[in-house]
Amino acid sequence: MKFFVDTADVAEIRSLAETGLVDGVTTNPSLIAKSGRKIAEVIAEICSITPGPVSAEVTATEFEPMLAEGRYLRGIAANVAVKVPLTEAGLRTCRALSDEGTQVNVTLCFSAAQALLAAKAGATFISPFVGRLDDIATDGMRLIADIVQIYRNYPNLKTEVLVASIRHPIHLVESAKLGAHVATLPPAVIRQLLKHPLTDSGLAAFLADWRKTGQSIL
Ligand code: G3P
Repeated sequence: MKFFVDTADVAEIRSLAETGLVDGVTTNPSLIAKSGRKIAEVIAEICSITPGPVSAEVTATEFEPMLAEGRYLRGIAANVAVKVPLTEAGLRTCRALSDEGTQVNVTLCFSAAQALLAAKAGATFISPFVGRLDDIATDGMRLIADIVQIYRNYPNLKTEVLVASIRHPIHLVESAKLGAHVATLPPAVIRQLLKHPLTDSGLAAFLADWRKTGQSIL
């Protein structure tokens, strides 16, 4: 499973990239706004930190301007994946950009039917938002299960399931059990993944016993 970081905070991305756990980055207009920086500048810097796909989202809503924005964003760096919303114009743009060899991440997916359309439009990634479904008492993980099942029936579909809107480690674990290809994780959730109190207490006990030996390895 590939881990993407869901943020436009460059300091967070640099810190997590040093762990070797980062396979890419996803941003969206809200995350860019939160960064307080110009999109071209911050996306260029993020693309210089990680060689993996870096999602940069268009903000136009009609096909022609959306395609123009996507071509501009793709021109920022070779590893830009253009993010388009799951709308008719978004799917038209996805098809056009995909045919030009551009990676496309189709976002704001909330149904299996939408995910099938995105795959037919040549999406590189489909981003179903599990957390926002959970937020309205709908089972987000059920959507992941349905998408993975549908895609598995058609081996010619190359779209990767990129689980988004992840709220906690269980979303990640359940997505991995279902066979999703990618998870995009807020920095805080990535850090939660490795924490376990028994690891901490076990390490403390090992080191306490080691200190009693009076020896050192080097
Ligand atoms: O960036 C796409 C998605 O991960 C955002 O999810 O619900 O945390 O805004 P959310």
